[in-house]
Amino acid sequence: MKNCLQLGSMLKGKKIVLGITGSIAAYKACILIRLLIKQGAEVQVVITPAGKEFITPITLSALTHKPVISDFFNQRDGSWHSHVDLGLWADAMLIAPCTASTIGKMTHGIADNMLITTYLSMKAPVLIAPAMDLDMYAHVSTQENIHLLCERGVTIIEPGSGFLASTLEGKGRMQEPEIIVDELVDFFAKRDGKLKGQRILITAGPTYEKLDPVRFIGNYSSGKMGVALAKECIAEGAEVELILGPCSLSLPKSSLLHVTNVENAAQMHHVATSLYPNCKAGIMCAAVADFTPSECADEKIKREGEQLVLRLNPTKDIAADLGKIKTPEQKLCGFALETHNALEHANEKLQRKNLDMIVMNSLQDEGAGFQCDTNKVSIITTDETVSLPLQSKQDVAREIINKFLL
Ligand code: CTP
Repeated sequence: MKNCLQLGSMLKGKKIVLGITGSIAAYKACILIRLLIKQGAEVQVVITPAGKEFITPITLSALTHKPVISDFFNQRDGSWHSHVDLGLWADAMLIAPCTASTIGKMTHGIADNMLITTYLSMKAPVLIAPAMDLDMYAHVSTQENIHLLCERGVTIIEPGSGFLASTLEGKGRMQEPEIIVDELVDFFAKRDGKLKGQRILITAGPTYEKLDPVRFIGNYSSGKMGVALAKECIAEGAEVELILGPCSLSLPKSSLLHVTNVENAAQMHHVATSLYPNCKAGIMCAAVADFTPSECADEKIKREGEQLVLRLNPTKDIAADLGKIKTPEQKLCGFALETHNALEHANEKLQRKNLDMIVMNSLQDEGAGFQCDTNKVSIITTDETVSLPLQSKQDVAREIINKFLL
């Protein structure tokens, strides 16, 4: 099963100057360009002479659909490449990979190539993804230069580490392209997002209600819809409290995302009720078990007798309980997955749980519901019911966030 979600267009219309320098990690620039373009960005590559030793401009221009800039003058007609115009054109300059040498030149204004002159003329924010040998990265000169760049407002995308995480030692390898793009999305979201400063609670995924040490009662929820919602909120600069039942999705790396992993309905209820009072809104996307075994056996239940009778107790309804403590300043959105009389049941839940909106999907619709990457929903409020076409869960998430929060 594929775990990745279609990402949507978190960098739509953003103009990025991508600086590439002479590191072996330059080959990863191709993946980076692809990801940036997939997110809707326009990419102009500026490469250093050393960068061209590692990757050819032909590959890069084919990916970006733009000639690569590396010299001060166009070799063919002698025309001038204007670093000043690039500085005005860009929404951000990203230098990835960024070598120790380029970091040094940036710090001290040594403008001996097109990339550094572009940097010095740059009006937009600058982000760098350092890439070098471990010792070079840890060297005091590099660290001092990075510190100075940081103080001047350059954003440093921390290199990854091999085996020794979270210490300076062992770091140096350029951060993975996926993470660089996540950080860039984060950067724009925090600066321009319509939900910046707001905290949103999202429950997602299934719950597992334990029967014995090796078995549980669960459901098919993959958590994809909830994670798609979290991504959309983050892209608008909101801080997200994601309460996630057991699932194996890869989550966006964002300082705006706080994840609490839970296993069962009781834990989800506990975390949700304690976090909701500090949130602007809640989106109850989790497929919470309605019943839990009245007791969990200490030992594995053996295959004995003619029948096994399980005794189940109702779980607490998280959405309904948040509906009870909701203040006039807060909002609450629920989901309703129905198999029959969908509209009627969804409307009843909207009232009963004191929700402001309910997103209804029907298992009768092909391509909707658990596990798949698409969904077909109707968005219901007390005023209206809007039915949306079958689309990716990411696009559905965008529509929900637009209607509910923007
Ligand atoms: N929900 C919840 N806590 C529960 C059960 C449901 O927070 N213990 C939330 C879900 O996250 C969803 C909404 O309530 O947002 C509706 O869930 P659903 O399972 O469709 O409704 P139920 O109230 O459980 O009703 P039923 O199962 O009878 O359809």
